[in-house]
Amino acid sequence: MDFKQRTVTCGQLRAADAGRTVVLNGWVHRDRNHGGLHFINLRDRYGITQVVVNGDSDPDLQSTASQLKLEYCIGVTGTVRKRPDEMINKDLATGEIEVVASEIEILSLCETLPFMIDEENPAREDVRLKYRYLDLRCFGMQKRIALRHYFVKAVRDFLSARDFYEIETPTLIRSTPEGARDFLVPSRIYPGKFYALPQSPQLMKQLLMVGGFDKYFQIARCYRDEDARGDRQLEFTQLDLEMSFVKRDDILSLMEELFNYVFKQILDYQLPAHFRRIAYKDAMNTYGCDKPDLRFDLPIMDFNELAAKSSFSAFKDTVAANGFVKALCARPNEKCEFTRKYIDELQDAAKVYGAKGLGWMKVTSEGTLSGGVSKYFAGMEKEVIDSLKAQGGDVIFLVAHENWKRCCTSIGAVRSKLGRDLEIIRKSFEFCWIIDFPLFCYNEEEGHWEAEHHMFSMPQARFIPTLESNPGEVLGDLYDLVLNGYEVASGSIRIHDVELQKRIFRICNFTDEEAQFRFGFLLNAFRFGPPPHGGIAPGIDRLIMIISEMTSIKEVIAFPKNTAALSPMDEAPSEVDQKQLDELHLIIKKKD
Ligand code: AMO
Repeated sequence: MDFKQRTVTCGQLRAADAGRTVVLNGWVHRDRNHGGLHFINLRDRYGITQVVVNGDSDPDLQSTASQLKLEYCIGVTGTVRKRPDEMINKDLATGEIEVVASEIEILSLCETLPFMIDEENPAREDVRLKYRYLDLRCFGMQKRIALRHYFVKAVRDFLSARDFYEIETPTLIRSTPEGARDFLVPSRIYPGKFYALPQSPQLMKQLLMVGGFDKYFQIARCYRDEDARGDRQLEFTQLDLEMSFVKRDDILSLMEELFNYVFKQILDYQLPAHFRRIAYKDAMNTYGCDKPDLRFDLPIMDFNELAAKSSFSAFKDTVAANGFVKALCARPNEKCEFTRKYIDELQDAAKVYGAKGLGWMKVTSEGTLSGGVSKYFAGMEKEVIDSLKAQGGDVIFLVAHENWKRCCTSIGAVRSKLGRDLEIIRKSFEFCWIIDFPLFCYNEEEGHWEAEHHMFSMPQARFIPTLESNPGEVLGDLYDLVLNGYEVASGSIRIHDVELQKRIFRICNFTDEEAQFRFGFLLNAFRFGPPPHGGIAPGIDRLIMIISEMTSIKEVIAFPKNTAALSPMDEAPSEVDQKQLDELHLIIKKKD
């Protein structure tokens, strides 16, 4: 069907265009009819233009105008007219003008909408996802998808200017455990065999280093069969990057420069030249997590010494059993009173991470302690207040646990909740590096060590001779980049030595045969002069989510899955017909 193509977009016209004859294509955003005088807000990706159909206009035009409904896709030919001063709409970029229509062409009709485009109260998420193409028409989604484009473009520009090559790696690969569960693709040609979708291009990018491409990046799709949460999706996008002949600080500096460039380009936001570096242990001790939100203070403090001197047996016993007691001071404000009910909520937040309770006591303006567990600190008030640098009006919160990590994360949850509820989170972008991570963590359920990050990360040199004697003590040459309380990237210097790589596999409970079966191609490659190398992978969805001040990653992905791992729009996953199953040599086991 032929139609008149636009000569301008709906966001383009200004006062200086008055008198021009133009053609607009777009959607009917709003339509007001005052007895034949129509005001149509016509919308496209670029903005909104007011179209006027005069009451005394041609009967055909009048008739077409009165047929219009919301979201009809139309073409308008008309003349640009400057609006009288009192009619200027300052909220619209095109608010100084309107287009007086001489012709309207209906390009396609729209049925009753499941929700209004750009309504103040958005529709329920499942409805938005079912009609995602309509949701995408909303200004917020358009803005975020555009931001994503500009982000990726800035990344490409920056890295290309630094001699990086963008190289694609396969998405049908061998199943190589990387931490999460693989998505598998059955092979039609080889019955019983499967490809896996990559959890990340980790091994391929290492092989590119062996292949001599010393500066590589890729905007890579990654697939992980894990529970979708606020900041996680089954399929997501990483900026995957790897370099040869580098040490940790080269990668950290490059990323600092990259984020400085990108934030300046897309947000006109000036980041500091260098990001704070915090050792994992310090992050846990001070912020109660390994992805601290530095936009507010509330530092966590060690309280073991004072707890041991108190008369509170729960604390004393924890310290005596080589456990930990940690403290945090916060002051209520007009946004958040510390009522008993609220303190119970804080306690519930702590309990999620294993705390048995949350001790508290108030600091009075006279410099004494009152309420909660204060009676156990009789005679020690000044010492407690001074050591925590507490002020009159503060409340001291305390968590005790025999396990260091649980103690930290429990009080860390209290810190996070206080930050949110007191509304003391500054509006800024606070990046930091977390370094000196443990290389291994103990899998209690399966009873063996496993890699904290992945198995290809280099141990710090001083631990290499004695890795096996105490894996829990080994620190890795690995690093995470954190932004506003989210892990936005992680990476490491990699192992490039076959023997060392085999030792790591063994510690992670892989026999030599199993390691050869799973990772033989990597071990083979390492026989042929692999260069020292390292890399990192920032998660693009998560970064865009934070930059656009969203709390769900779905808000920055054009067609995401819901938290039940479904796509309500095309209803994936779906059953397939018997012929497809037969070709793939698959029999579906019926659920009992
Ligand atoms: P890692 O698994 O830590 O490292 O992932 C790197 C970054 O990717 C993002 N990310 C996710 N985003 C959305 N949904 C998910 N399910 C998801 N999982 C991870 C996060 C995270 O920081 N191969 C290594 C990187 C390397 O060592 O170079 C890797 O994939 O922002």
